[in-house]
Amino acid sequence: MSESIFHLKDKHIWVIGGAGYLGQAIVQFLSRSGARVLCVDLGNKAQEFITTANLGEKVVAATLDINDTGQIAQFITEQESSQGPPDGMVNLTFGSTTKRLEDLTDNDFDQVNHTALTATFILSRETASAMKAGGGSIVLFSSMYGVVSPNDELYAAPMQKNPLEYGVGKAGIIQMTKYLAVHWAKQKIRVNCISPGPFPNPTVRQQHPDFIERLEKKSPMGRIGLSEEIAGPVAFLLSDEAGYITGHNLIVDGGWTVW
Ligand SMILES: NC(=O)c1ccc[n+]([C@@H]2O[C@H](COP(=O)([O-])OP(=O)(O)OC[C@H]3O[C@@H](n4cnc5c(N)ncnc54)[C@H](O)[C@@H]3O)[C@@H](O)[C@H]2O)c1
Repeated sequence: MSESIFHLKDKHIWVIGGAGYLGQAIVQFLSRSGARVLCVDLGNKAQEFITTANLGEKVVAATLDINDTGQIAQFITEQESSQGPPDGMVNLTFGSTTKRLEDLTDNDFDQVNHTALTATFILSRETASAMKAGGGSIVLFSSMYGVVSPNDELYAAPMQKNPLEYGVGKAGIIQMTKYLAVHWAKQKIRVNCISPGPFPNPTVRQQHPDFIERLEKKSPMGRIGLSEEIAGPVAFLLSDEAGYITGHNLIVDGGWTVW
């Protein structure tokens, strides 16, 4: 049954990183909204998720490591010929070292930003070329830390650091979104990004209540976000209702970056 007010019925949407915390909520929301969803992740993660969540008939699973350029090309060819061109693509993948600035190596920086920027660019370029005939919608993932810097005090031990290279990659996603949006506008391909605020997953919430309390205190709304609160904004950007929105960074952060 369709629960969405957005027009997504029978749209074919690829969700890359779809078996992760926010990805799962997005896949489920899109599927309940009548979209044909391809859930894509590393190894067997997507298949395990759709089996556990009992989505098997509505959602198809696929494997892809976006760091492997050859795999991206093969994935696009296979999906295009078996399922047809995509109407939408969401990319939730990211990299991070969780290291302090003093410990970060040149190689760490390169590797993380290969995933965040180079691989995201290649994936977007190949997806857009698969979409070309009818246009489509691409949603990339930035972060509040693509907009503002983390306050180190929030990440006091035993929490891991929110590191430099993560935020640099996320800031780059915002600019990539704008550039691609302009470049592909005449091909009717819209490109937008989402910048989530604090959405710690259930394990972090359970294991680090002090950390959650610090996040809540910093948030104007006094609380962390719930994964369903990301799924709706993503669905909106993918839908026909967002037909005149492109190059936008939709910040979903409970006001974190406002003050
Ligand atoms: N959760 C938050 O609080 C938060 C806050 C700001 C931004 N974000 C952003 O939202 C996105 C999703 O976050 P999340 O909390 O769901 O993370 P997550 O780690 O739970 O999910 C990410 C998924 O991407 C997959 N992935 C990683 N590298 C990949 C690769 N090379 N190829 C294919 N798949 C790969 C992982 O297996 C995982 O399932 C990320 O881009 C993150 O930076 C999250």
